Amino acid sequence: MTEKRYTVAVVGATGMVGRTMIQVLEERRFPVRRLVLFATARSAGTMLRFGGADIAVQALTEDALRNTRAQFALFSAGASVSRAFAPVAASAGAVVVDNSSAFRMDPGVPLVVPEVNPQAIHRHGGIIANPNCSTIQMVVALKPLHDAFGIRRIVVSTYQSVTGAGQRGYDQLMAEVHGQTAPVPKFPHRIAFNCIPHIDTFEENGYTREEMKMMRETVKIMGDPELLVTATCVRVPVTGGHSESVNIECARAVSVDEAQMLLRRAPGVTLVDDPVRDCYPMPADAAGRDQVFVGRIRRDPTVPNGLSLWIVADNLRKGAATNAVQIAELVAAQTGTAA
Ligand SMILES: NC(=O)c1ccc[n+]([C@@H]2O[C@H](COP(=O)([O-])OP(=O)(O)OC[C@H]3O[C@@H](n4cnc5c(N)ncnc54)[C@H](OP(=O)(O)O)[C@@H]3O)[C@@H](O)[C@H]2O)c1
Repeated sequence: MTEKRYTVAVVGATGMVGRTMIQVLEERRFPVRRLVLFATARSAGTMLRFGGADIAVQALTEDALRNTRAQFALFSAGASVSRAFAPVAASAGAVVVDNSSAFRMDPGVPLVVPEVNPQAIHRHGGIIANPNCSTIQMVVALKPLHDAFGIRRIVVSTYQSVTGAGQRGYDQLMAEVHGQTAPVPKFPHRIAFNCIPHIDTFEENGYTREEMKMMRETVKIMGDPELLVTATCVRVPVTGGHSESVNIECARAVSVDEAQMLLRRAPGVTLVDDPVRDCYPMPADAAGRDQVFVGRIRRDPTVPNGLSLWIVADNLRKGAATNAVQIAELVAAQTGTAA
């Protein structure tokens, strides 16, 4: 018996997530037989390195996507591209893992974080959604606490890296810190030396779509319709990852020692919680790593069963590429080995 190997398509291959996806596929030794890379026509012919070879990026078209006969298609080119092309890839036989928001709240599409709800992949009909980056890191850290203490309400404020807004977001920060104006700014205001409490568009209720994504996706992934979540999402001039200040109120008595013990052995979590030695998670330390880092765990004395904590992860890795490749690994494990 040999390990089955797959044709894998990456859509959005030249983007911040796409490039990280190619790197993560290689690092985790995903069994790739052939890698096919797609982006816009502008990027056609761009060479990207994988497995010691240079692969030319192709312009995304329905025919080109169908002709790859890919078993996996990892999408990270925005929601409109996913809406138009993910069903094409799925109907041609691929399992699509979609990084965009296009299908996340579709009741027929599993929304999966492998450390939290791996069982959800069994119900997929060709498309599996990767949650929002801020949601992923929060649920990885909160799942063991929810199981132990019964979280009733989550109040989260985010401090999100410019890399979460893609290449243009990163380029705007870099231009502005060098005293220049970005040719095509991503944010509605200066981001250098600033914080912008506005990610994605505003909804009628005053929340942004990014905030509503965190609120809705958390409930779906945790599988607990009673869970209350309120979010404030803020873009900050940082590159290494997203940080979150999270306050939880629970049904059962909480203890800092027990929370630390649970998080020390939680899959995907690294506890960094020794404030006396100035040890707590920071995005500069999370950059390029796959774990979710948790620290600053403390009792909230203002409510009966409250805890506050600080959660940090690299949004391009665990928040996007790594989580997507982990989902593909779960699906590949289901399909097994081939003679
Ligand atoms: N950045 C994050 O932390 C993060 C986390 C989770 C999810 N996501 C999601 O992942 C997606 C990509 O994000 P990103 O940060 O990688 O953005 P990005 O750096 O701006 O990259 C966008 C990618 O999509 C490609 N693309 C855009 N329009 C296309 C089209 N019509 N046809 C084919 N390819 C097209 C671009 O190709 P060209 O280079 O040719 O323009 C590029 O490869 C978004 O849906 C985003 O919401 C991002």
